Amino acid sequence: MNICRTINQLTQAVNEFKQQNKTIGLVPTMGALHEGHKSLFERARKENDIFIASVFVNPVQFNNPEDLEKYPRSEEQDLQMLETCGCDAVFVPSAEEVYQGQEVETWHFGQLEQVMEGKQRPGHFSGVANIVSRLFKWIMPDRAYFGEKDFQQIAIIRDMVSQMQSPVEIVACPIYRESDGLAASSRNRRLSPQARLMAPKIHYILTKSFEQKDALSLSQIKSFVEHEFDKYKDFELEYFLLVDDKTLQPVRQRSVNQGIVGCLAVWLDGVRLIDIQRYW
Ligand code: PAF
Repeated sequence: MNICRTINQLTQAVNEFKQQNKTIGLVPTMGALHEGHKSLFERARKENDIFIASVFVNPVQFNNPEDLEKYPRSEEQDLQMLETCGCDAVFVPSAEEVYQGQEVETWHFGQLEQVMEGKQRPGHFSGVANIVSRLFKWIMPDRAYFGEKDFQQIAIIRDMVSQMQSPVEIVACPIYRESDGLAASSRNRRLSPQARLMAPKIHYILTKSFEQKDALSLSQIKSFVEHEFDKYKDFELEYFLLVDDKTLQPVRQRSVNQGIVGCLAVWLDGVRLIDIQRYW
């Protein structure tokens, strides 16, 4: 596995792959790799000649300095996992290397960023677009893989690709869940053992609401989920919204064939977790 720490090393490796007409699958990550990432790596490995990953805790997508500071970092283990997953090249740059004193761009995503994560974390998606667009320009992958837990991020990246008129295919991959239902996340490492035992309730509550979807109106599903979280003092629900799966706008009344996804952010033990449930 080629470990590239500079843009020069990365573009050199990419040029060699391109000269051999190889297809490239990219998995951008912020490290602290877990089984969820592994499922993306396996897919990228299988569907492309070359699999490239990036490991970079991107400072410009954090609107909370404490969150950035506490974000878990484990480079040695990350590189080991990537090697085991058959990664051809990994980009592990410093923030100075990525931004090189240049001004950070401001990206706009209209109504897609005015709800949920975009609303709660101002500037977050512009920060995500800053790093992902750079990675796409340097690596020019055929496909890029993202987990569906970050449902809004995928919609934003699809919009970014269309703004860039880039041919990269965005591949949305199913959430990897631990055996107790908790969605895999780097942030799970920060949960105390007691909070880790509580955390699967998030998926449990969403599943219970899904099972009743045909008997309840959308506002009743929303109230049900909010009420269930209220029962547990350890949880503080930041938002739960039922949104159109393409526009991400909250839906009150479902139209025929409309795709609807429930998205939430919840605090547990000082850790902010997100999860989703597709209803239709
Ligand atoms: O989903 C993430 O881990 C990050 O937002 C990404 C896409 C790697 C950009 O930093």
